[in-house]
Order: sequence, then structure tokens, then C-alpha cells
Amino acid sequence: MRVAVLKETAEREQRVAVVPDSVVRLLKAGATVAVEHDAGAAAGFADALYVKAGATIAADAAEACAGAAVVCKVQKPTLDEAARLSAGTVLVSLLPAGQSADLLARLAERQVTALALERVPRISRAQSMDVLSSQATVAGYKAVLLAAGALPRFLPMLTTAAGNIPPAKAFVLGAGVAGLQAIATARRLGAVVSAFDVRAAVKEQVHSLGAKFIAAELAAGAAETAGGYAKEQAADAQARTQAAIAAVLPEMDLVITTAAIPGKRAPVLIAEEMVRTMKAGAVLVDLAAESGGNCAITVPGETVTRHGVTIMGPLNLPSTLPTHASAMFSRNVLELLQHLAPKDQGLTIDLADEITGPMAVTHGGQVRP
Ligand code: NAI
Repeated sequence: MRVAVLKETAEREQRVAVVPDSVVRLLKAGATVAVEHDAGAAAGFADALYVKAGATIAADAAEACAGAAVVCKVQKPTLDEAARLSAGTVLVSLLPAGQSADLLARLAERQVTALALERVPRISRAQSMDVLSSQATVAGYKAVLLAAGALPRFLPMLTTAAGNIPPAKAFVLGAGVAGLQAIATARRLGAVVSAFDVRAAVKEQVHSLGAKFIAAELAAGAAETAGGYAKEQAADAQARTQAAIAAVLPEMDLVITTAAIPGKRAPVLIAEEMVRTMKAGAVLVDLAAESGGNCAITVPGETVTRHGVTIMGPLNLPSTLPTHASAMFSRNVLELLQHLAPKDQGLTIDLADEITGPMAVTHGGQVRP
């Protein structure tokens, strides 16, 4: 099985889908790997490291893809890139639902089997393949560093000859994968952290990280799906959530919001009048900016200051920590490839498989629902 690793062409994308360490493992499993020239350069993985790991370097994407059974990318390919893939190729990349209709049609027409990494089912068996989780970990960590960099004050408590400094107070809204990492990171930097989530099940996890859980009895319970994910709240429940958040916001120095509903616009939980009540100099990092934002003031991709509060809406934070984000992404891709082509067996696309089936968005010339 020949695996091709392409250089990302999307603006601000610095990650690479497969890092040299995974190349070694793929070779051990009997694959060959062709890496497009400079594919890993922005993430700190020079061509020489891939060569040392046993890959060959291709001058361009066309050369890397020639004869490849699997083509790996982080971001979805452009229409032109898709047109270069030959019939029967398996594409492994992010393929955001609802934004890729033309692309999926092109991939189906090219007889490409496209596996969308967002659709790895969230079951224990597939946890090691879940790029949404690995990249959310990176985003949660980086969000706290961004906030710390923009804050006009320390995070930890300090006792010095020049006076005593109380610790900063941090609030994390949405204690999923990104939120839990944000809590852990803010705690390590010395902040006093509280968190809120509509899923009561996260209370224990929040406590185990040394943070306070803001009562969610108002909204929890009915706010969870059978699979343990948040579902959209009814208007009255959302109003109660907002009231619980409004009660704590005025004392916070740092706020990280991560509340998302899979496949839907993020709920707006911090209205402009709530921002007005916040401390001057406070910083809010809205990790839900990508799906519209949890704060009414958030401008995706920008930092704005309103009512004395800095509100950041960063996009693609994982790309700003490209070395480890790529290493984790690559580990997820490696696990998936090992699932598709177990050692000494050929590559199989089994649509009845509980992992491969939901991920296949094009196969056999068809776009799949
Ligand atoms: P997410 O990115 O979809 O949402 C982030 C958080 O926001 C969630 O905790 C959600 O409950 C919360 N949220 C949604 N609406 C809210 C509201 N109105 N107010 C406050 N909070 C709100 O979720 P994520 O982080 O991708 O995963 C959620 C859960 O799934 C976690 O418990 C995680 O451990 C679990 N999971 C399981 C996996 C597996 O078994 N393979 C893989 C990944 C996650």
C-alpha cells in the first residue's frame, strides 16, 4: 500500500497529516510512503526527517499521488486538488459537513473514496482515531495561553517584597475536550478556575482537575443526548443557563468559551449586556468562533475590545501549535490506516464496518449521506 502525504495549501494551515514517526510505523506495517516536498516544513518536520524515517520525497502533489492507494491531508482538498486524484484512491482528510457539496460531487465523479475525519464515531474503539478530540486538546491549551498573553495581570498568586498578588479567576464555559484542557492549563498557570456545562456528567471531571463546577441543575439532565453529547437547549433552559453564567461573569479575569452542539450553530450564551458587567481588562477567548461564537460580540478570526473587555475569536488554533497538533493528528490517521489495512492484509473499505461506514462520504461514484 502506497500512502501519499500532501502539503497543505489552505491559508494559515501549518499542520501536516502524517509526521515522520508515523512513517516509521507505516513502513513496519508493510506500506511505502511518499511525502510531497516541504509538506511538514511549517510543522517542524523537514524533508530530511521523512527521508530518515524511510519515506520518499515527491517534487509535487501529482508525483506524490501517482500510484497511491491512500492520500492523506489535514484540510479538505481544493477542487483542483481533487481532480488530480485517480479512481480508486482513498482520501483521508477533514471534510466539513455542509461546506463541501461541490467537492464531494467531484470526488464521487473521480471514483475516490473520501473518508471524513470529522465523522470518526465517538465510541471507545475509535477514540485513538478521533482528530476532533486531539485537536480540541490543542485548542483548549492554546486558548489559555492566548488569554494569558492578552491579560494585563498575572495568573498565579504571588507573594513578593513588592506586594501580594491574588490569583486570577478563570471561567470555562463548556467542559468537553477543549474545556477540560483549558481548565487544566489555567490551573497549571495558577488561576482559580470554575466551569459550567449543561451535561451534569462532567461535574466529576471538573472537580478532579481542581476546578469548581457551577451548578447546572437548572439546565442539565434533559440537555444530554443518549450518546452523552449536548443537545440544543429549549429557550427557557437557555435563559437559565445565561442567568447562571451572568452571576459569575463580573468577577472573572479570564473566560474561555467552548460550548458547541454537534452540527449546529453554537449557542449564544454571553449577550452584550453580560459583557458590560465584566471587569475592565478581562479577556474572553471564544473557541466556538468557528461555529458562530458563544459570545454575541465575537467576530470570528478577530480580536475586538468592547466595554473594556478583549474578545478573541480565533480560528484554527491547532494550526498555531503545528508540531504537536500534527503529531497527534498523525497518530489518529495512523490508527485509522491500521484499521483499514491491518498488518499483512490489504486495504479494505468495508461500508458495514462501524468506523469506516460513517466516515465514507463518497464511495463507488456516489456521495453518501
Ligand atoms: P463539543 O465540542 O461538541 O462541546 C463542547 C462542550 O460544550 C460539551 O461539553 C457540551 O456539553 C458543552 N455545551 C453545549 N451546549 C452548552 C450550553 N448551552 N451551555 C454550556 N455548555 C454547553 O464536545 P466535545 O468536547 O467534542 O465532546 C463532548 C463529550 O464527548 C465529552 O464528554 C467527551 O469526553 C466525549 N467524547 C467521547 C469520545 C469517545 O468516546 N470516542 C471522543 C470525544 C469526546
